[in-house]
Amino acid sequence: MISTLHSRRRGADGDLTPRLAFGADYNPEQWPREVWEEDVRLMREAGVTVVSVAIFSWARLQPTADTWDFGWLDEVMDLLHAGGIGVDLATATASPPPWLTTAHPEILPVTATGETLWPGARQHWRPTSPVFREHALRLVREMATRYADHPALVAWHVSNELGCHNVYDYSDDAARAFRDWLRARYGTLEALNHAWGTAFWSQRYSDWEQILPPRLAASHPNPTQQLDFKRFSSDVLKDYLRAERDLLKEITPNVPVTTNFMVMGETKGMNYADWAEEIDFVSNDHYVHPGPQSRDELSFSANLTSGIASGRPWFLMEHSTSAVNWQPVNVAKRPGELARDALLHVAHGADAVCYFQWRQSAAGAEKYHSAMVPHAGADSELFRAVVELGATLKTLAPVAGSTRESAKVGIVFDWDSWWASEQDSHPTSLLNYRQEGLDWYSALLALGVRADLITTKSDFTRYDVLIAPVLHVVPAELAKELTRYAEQGGHLVTTYFSGVVDQNDHIWLGGYPGALRELLGIRVEEFGPLLADESVSLDDGSTGTLWTDRITLADDRTEVLARYDSGDQAGRPAVTRRTAAAGSASYVSTRLGVAGLTALLPRLLEPAGVHSELPAEARGRVELAVRRNDDEQFLFLVNRTDDTVPLPGFAGDVLYGTSGDGGLVLGPREVGVVRRPSA
Ligand code: GLA
Repeated sequence: MISTLHSRRRGADGDLTPRLAFGADYNPEQWPREVWEEDVRLMREAGVTVVSVAIFSWARLQPTADTWDFGWLDEVMDLLHAGGIGVDLATATASPPPWLTTAHPEILPVTATGETLWPGARQHWRPTSPVFREHALRLVREMATRYADHPALVAWHVSNELGCHNVYDYSDDAARAFRDWLRARYGTLEALNHAWGTAFWSQRYSDWEQILPPRLAASHPNPTQQLDFKRFSSDVLKDYLRAERDLLKEITPNVPVTTNFMVMGETKGMNYADWAEEIDFVSNDHYVHPGPQSRDELSFSANLTSGIASGRPWFLMEHSTSAVNWQPVNVAKRPGELARDALLHVAHGADAVCYFQWRQSAAGAEKYHSAMVPHAGADSELFRAVVELGATLKTLAPVAGSTRESAKVGIVFDWDSWWASEQDSHPTSLLNYRQEGLDWYSALLALGVRADLITTKSDFTRYDVLIAPVLHVVPAELAKELTRYAEQGGHLVTTYFSGVVDQNDHIWLGGYPGALRELLGIRVEEFGPLLADESVSLDDGSTGTLWTDRITLADDRTEVLARYDSGDQAGRPAVTRRTAAAGSASYVSTRLGVAGLTALLPRLLEPAGVHSELPAEARGRVELAVRRNDDEQFLFLVNRTDDTVPLPGFAGDVLYGTSGDGGLVLGPREVGVVRRPSA
């Protein structure tokens, strides 16, 4: 679908060959008319090919309930078209205007404690409000009808970051919709009472009307109610996405539709693995979080976006040229980081590099957020770096349309397990699902071993090693699939608090890790969580935190890879492996962190014969990601360090980067791309 988008548009230079798109959110309504001409001129200078327009324009497009003002947008679309720039046109529904919330305060979201989220910021709407939906869809219809045949239109951008601020709404509308969703899921109250375990604490329901969202309660709300509310909240936003999409498809069946995901840590409310098939191409927004794992986290997010997109190319819809405005301290990017961050997304399948936003705002909450054209203007280092990146993306045009080349290691990321493992009234409140997955990924990066982030919908059999950290929710079918995977030669690795519950958050009885107990050949009668400042040592020299298990081996077919050396489990197994027909299943019962996992992983990878594809000196210093099409392979080599790293052996057709004696040489923070014929 992204290729459709390419073919709908010429680049700013009139070139029709598929290429990587480059652009930004463009908010011309924040600027006087005379700035627009300069914008288009500078966009051409930078090689911009696409901009997302009208994301927050509702109040400007529909000043009152009965008046419309499209004149300014017509002009913007015409100007962009004349400049050869395509428009990913937003449906403009992200932020309802004051006239609407004044007339209909019943569209405002309500928190679990009953507080209303008032207008004054953005996204103050209930995903389940029929009134909101009616007004929003009316706007979508106007937009789609008016711009259906506009030559600048290349794609539709539904709303903006659905669920960013309003994923959990506990209003009466939400309560009604939650009951409908539950009726559809369970059919009968009997089935719901069973799934929610309502025999506990006298929670048995005798009428659907008694059921509420998990609002602030006297103690811990029912865990399955909480988990279902998370599933429901993701589903109702998906349903809203579908409603806009269906209307757009009715009016403009040939224009691709997307919406920007947020595959980032803070935004766990939306099950994107489940949303991806609703749109023509996946888009993602990502912002760097400063800190020791920031580079790894960027790679993790881009890699997971690729997994969500089933390895097909996707759109990086937003990231930042430099600082953001919403972290406690908003640090600027260092020289080289603007390009490296962008190209790391491309390495993991992005066919577009777009920023928030084109021109840095002079007013409003985001005036300190960087942009492609900073407050200082075009005569700035930042804009020069933007222009350079535009040229780089042009050089990388042959990459456009290529897909991810599977790695040998897959890391499973599962929304149900994310949601359920971090709920309240658990053995520990310190567990961080995404962090555990990121630590495994960091350890693989440190070893220079390529891995794919995948979802539970992915084909496991593509991978020689499957790592499933904290795979907490394991329905019977998934347990069977994992068993089959291992028996047929795959090497499964899982961790503490995995296999413990089914899809209803009911414990698999008979000993942990429940659904995976037999496959792993271990049995745990009681968990041994550790206090925040506690740690234990293992006999392989590593240190465990957060969790321990009191493990009994099923029989001598289960091998002990490491034992606890201190603490309550001293002398007992900490890391185990069991042969399962042609493959194996390993279990890591404590949190080892990046250093411990880096030390352990070679032993876990060894039975599968998985090794780094990088020369020894480059491991950990360079990240390798591979894209391919029918004829060619593109090896992206990303320098993670501030030093120069030579890469002998990576010679051949250097599509981008610097060649030295015997191969590519990566300067500090540089990226190189080598092209080879497909094997
Ligand atoms: C999100 C939004 C943008 C902007 C950026 C700032 O990604 O979609 O409108 O607010 O954050 O980082």
